[in-house]
Amino acid sequence: MPDQRRILARCDALARHSELAGGLTRVYLSREQAAANELVLGWMREAGMVARLDAIGNVVGRREGERPGLPCLMLGSHLDTVRDAGKYDGMLGVVTAIECVADLAARGKRLPFAIEVIGFADEEGVRFGSTLLGSRAAAGTFRHETLDAADKDGVSLREALRGFGLDPARIGEAARGREDVLAYVELHIEQGPVLEAEGLPVGVVSAINGATRLAIEIDGVAGHAGTVPMTLRQDALAAAAECVLAIERRCSSVAELVGTVGRLETLPGAVNVIPGTARFTIDIRSPRDGDRVAAVEEVCAELRSIAKRRGVMLKVAKTHEGGVAGCAPWLMEQIGAAIAAEGIAVRELPSGAGHDGMAMIELCDVGMLFVRCEKGISHNPAESITAADAETGARVFLRFIENFQPKATA
Ligand code: GLV
Ligand code: MN
Ligand code: MN
Repeated sequence: MPDQRRILARCDALARHSELAGGLTRVYLSREQAAANELVLGWMREAGMVARLDAIGNVVGRREGERPGLPCLMLGSHLDTVRDAGKYDGMLGVVTAIECVADLAARGKRLPFAIEVIGFADEEGVRFGSTLLGSRAAAGTFRHETLDAADKDGVSLREALRGFGLDPARIGEAARGREDVLAYVELHIEQGPVLEAEGLPVGVVSAINGATRLAIEIDGVAGHAGTVPMTLRQDALAAAAECVLAIERRCSSVAELVGTVGRLETLPGAVNVIPGTARFTIDIRSPRDGDRVAAVEEVCAELRSIAKRRGVMLKVAKTHEGGVAGCAPWLMEQIGAAIAAEGIAVRELPSGAGHDGMAMIELCDVGMLFVRCEKGISHNPAESITAADAETGARVFLRFIENFQPKATA
């Protein structure tokens, strides 16, 4: 049986690799990520897998099936975090998958397919704004323009890859062949309150909501806070503030549509200087692509009209766009069967959070198993799961893996 103590201890061990003292922040291509990768590579090898870093920085472990070279069932999640993160978002899925493989290896059990476990390098998109870079590379949909994206210190993705020891010209080598991957299935904490409210430890994901992310820059005129009359200012932050409220208003007007400004910075950023530049991010999501696309169009039109009225310049760049990713019914059925076999009621639910499956769906069918988390809290250091739920999640996941039937024969 998978060992829940080891699962939780490994999540704790990964959380120690952080740039934030006393908390957890681990972004793509950082020193902390390199250290976390080393840990995960070691655990994969200990579980009997051949393990390597791929061309974009994903950690990939493989255990062969009944004979070498069979197509694989790919399991995994991500190893990067948001800022001041919880320690289960992403990591629980990678560590649990390794634990399931370790259990199979300990019993000497070979399956009629290979198993690969992947720890995606960038799901959150915190460092470069563009998200799902690891899974896009694995799915073969990485866009080379993204190499020009820069982090907050002006370091481009291209430079950061080189600094990490990776060659930007070889990213294509991370792409997997359709014939090599039977399905991608991820275990993840729910990050919402539904399972807890219904007294269920696990649930089957039906679809992942679509999302658009934008990077906005407003350029006004920096000036002296004491001398420029209020009527003569082109204050970039005041314009941004009006934009933030317009986004909140528009995204509150449609059921299940959500819109967030998660980062805002002003330049030059001094107490006695009128802000000349404001930069902020927008993240808009919905379970219906039509609602999301309409909201993005209307928000952009509203921002343009605010900028025009206030005499400031507006620049809008789209950093991410992904439609609703539906989980494959045949995988949902097999995940549901594993849950039912543990005597647990099968609850299907959509995911409001984004996941690597949104990119992997371009390569293969995807499925997800959610594990209950306390009060639905996530993207927060208070994120928490119980040892019992970690164990139930791992037991269901292992049962699903052992009984997995590829689509052609399902
Ligand atoms: C990732 O966790 C996201 O939903 O932004
Ligand atoms: Mn997350
Ligand atoms: Mn996640």
